[in-house]
Amino acid sequence: MDNTAIHEGDYVLFILNERKNFLVKVNRNERFHTHKGYIDLNDVIGKEYGSLVKTSKNIEFVLAKPTIADFIKKIQRKTQIIYQKDAAYILFIANVASGKNVVEIGTGSGALTAALAYYVKPTGHVYTYDINLDFLELAKRNIEKIGLSEYVTFKNKNPIEGIDEKDMDATIIDIGNPWDVIKPAFNSLKNSGILVCFCPTINQVEKICSVLKENSFRDIHGIELIEREYQVEAGKIRPRTLMIGHTGYIVYGRKSFS
Ligand SMILES: C[S@@+](CC[C@H](N)C(=O)[O-])C[C@H]1O[C@@H](n2cnc3c(N)ncnc32)[C@H](O)[C@@H]1O
Repeated sequence: MDNTAIHEGDYVLFILNERKNFLVKVNRNERFHTHKGYIDLNDVIGKEYGSLVKTSKNIEFVLAKPTIADFIKKIQRKTQIIYQKDAAYILFIANVASGKNVVEIGTGSGALTAALAYYVKPTGHVYTYDINLDFLELAKRNIEKIGLSEYVTFKNKNPIEGIDEKDMDATIIDIGNPWDVIKPAFNSLKNSGILVCFCPTINQVEKICSVLKENSFRDIHGIELIEREYQVEAGKIRPRTLMIGHTGYIVYGRKSFS
């Protein structure tokens, strides 16, 4: 299939400006309504990604091919999700790449699951655990929408009772009590495998670091990423007035043994 042209059923990112965009499924004989007028979706089918379309009020939108980051930003959520600055760092330090096998504890809305699945495909796999069936079902729908279902196994099981998978390359934990799953995570990881915990509070960081040490993890690090976006208008370049002040801390270490 020609990937440069928009086909019926494709998701397209309609970009008004750098602050406003919409992720739209292009169905035939439908209109997409915005506060800037509507777009007839029949006019979009067959156009090239990157081209422009005008609304009924003569306002231009860019027709962009959504990236994995665009899909994740628009994910339907019922839980707090891991933001892209943290997700990108986690993927890098956990060495997530095509062919890797990863366990995720705390699927939530599936935002990080989507990022993990995107990078382990086509030969790797993500095994994601959540004790809440509602969240797991939502995450399943989100991952299906992005087209990554075949790279993810969803497990409605408490990993405190054990993780089924062995020889895993990495384990990523985003739950309130990460220390309770460190032993099962250790048993599931391959030697020298990477464990990453996302912790919203510094109290969690302190506790998880000592539990990791007690459980033979080494090379333990704790970091916080602070992102400040700039407005990039010529002659008015400066940080934006508002920013997200806090997301969480990232703690990571490697499985060792004596
Ligand atoms: C903050 S959310 C995770 C969000 C996810 N990282 C994302 O980016 O969408 C935390 C999730 O952990 C789940 N959870 C809490 N305790 C758990 C446990 N012991 N095992 C597995 N999941 C657990 C909750 O049900 C919730 O869905």
